[in-house]
Amino acid sequence: MDKFIIEGGNRLYGNVQTQSAKNSVLVLLAASVLTEERVTIENVPHISDVLHMSEILRKLGADVRFADGGVTVSSERAEERDISSHLTRELRSSVFMLGSVLTRFKHACISYPGGCDIGLRPIDLHLFGLKKLGVRTEERDGYIVCNAEKLEGENIHLDFPSVGATENIILASVKARGETVITNAAKEPEIRDLQDFLNRMGAKVRGAGTDTVVIEGVKELHGTHFTPMRDRIEAGTFLIACAMCGGEICVEGVRRQNIAALLNKLSENTCKIHIENDKIYIRSNGKPRSNRHIETLPFPGFPTDLQAQMTSLNAVADGACILTENLFETRFKHVPELIRMGADITVKDRTALIRGVGRLHGATVSSEDLRGGAALTLAALAASGTSEVLHLSHIDRGYDGLEKKLSALGAKIRRVGD
Ligand code: UD1
Repeated sequence: MDKFIIEGGNRLYGNVQTQSAKNSVLVLLAASVLTEERVTIENVPHISDVLHMSEILRKLGADVRFADGGVTVSSERAEERDISSHLTRELRSSVFMLGSVLTRFKHACISYPGGCDIGLRPIDLHLFGLKKLGVRTEERDGYIVCNAEKLEGENIHLDFPSVGATENIILASVKARGETVITNAAKEPEIRDLQDFLNRMGAKVRGAGTDTVVIEGVKELHGTHFTPMRDRIEAGTFLIACAMCGGEICVEGVRRQNIAALLNKLSENTCKIHIENDKIYIRSNGKPRSNRHIETLPFPGFPTDLQAQMTSLNAVADGACILTENLFETRFKHVPELIRMGADITVKDRTALIRGVGRLHGATVSSEDLRGGAALTLAALAASGTSEVLHLSHIDRGYDGLEKKLSALGAKIRRVGD
């Protein structure tokens, strides 16, 4: 398995382009089987989650081709097949296939989804929404079996604004009879991207990005070309890297409103932020001040996917930070590794008390999940001495060429195979 070898202590300078959003591309790929016509998604990141999703589409009989940085899906020959391979266990987003496969074939069978081990991640809200649309669901030996003679529009109120449940209900209702209204829907920008994509295919979806999404069922959907939004989490990871290491970088491609919660926090860290259209400039002296309090929340609150990286930042900051993780139960697996690097962090339930120590020292650490792996990489970049970050397969799920982009900014990081 690959690992990073990182020599810490270098400032970062230069420009970095942001990849397309992982969480958008994955749901768009799931949506591509809603039509028999060809769908092209441009500028697709080369990450293992995307490759796994493509494999799932191929298992259904779709033709999936990567060319010129994009992917084309033709699912004319796709058939009603059980999605019960090992792939669904590796990829949480495979659960989106339920909505789109049900719309296409009125039947879906999928093994219980996996993904990062960051807590229970139940799918009760997905199933609740699907049932409201007329789907009969059954959980059998780790499989979810769904059948729908017909899909009928409904009013669906979510108890919690789950991103995946909102997206799945949209996918299951685009061709349902009548109107579906989702209230307390998730407001993440990736849902807006899904709406734009579906509308380009001929769907009638409105309200995404607010807490009420309205889907008027249509009879047919057709093929399209689409360029997804950029990855606000990848962008945030680079901004936090600069805040920790010091220097001056420009992160290109991300809209300010998609990353506003992080920008507020980085100002508290005494970083200087300047924005021109979709270019975010950050300057840091490499001696950040702690955030007093960070609490992860559904969008537009502080994203859970940047929590681990902010743990690293506060570990090297001046002062103390109380960080509360509200979304996932076990999302502190990076903490014991940061402690190996000299961090002073105490975790109780979902709250971490991080006392900044100024500087961490190099160590061999292991990434246990995607964002935790990114957090350890940042910690190593800012630490004194050499570190090894093991188990890059987690990082490779969501970052396309992380080490190449960091090297281009002046970091001393290289990938070696075991
Ligand atoms: C998506 C993102 C993930 C991000 C998360 C929160 C994708 C592929 N992944 O994950 O990167 O961290 O949003 O912003 O887009 N829950 C239930 N029942 C359900 C569904 C969710 O209790 O049926 C709970 C989860 O356990 C969790 C919380 O709701 O505690 C948030 O989950 P959700 O918003 O659904 O996240 P995902 O769609 O899994």
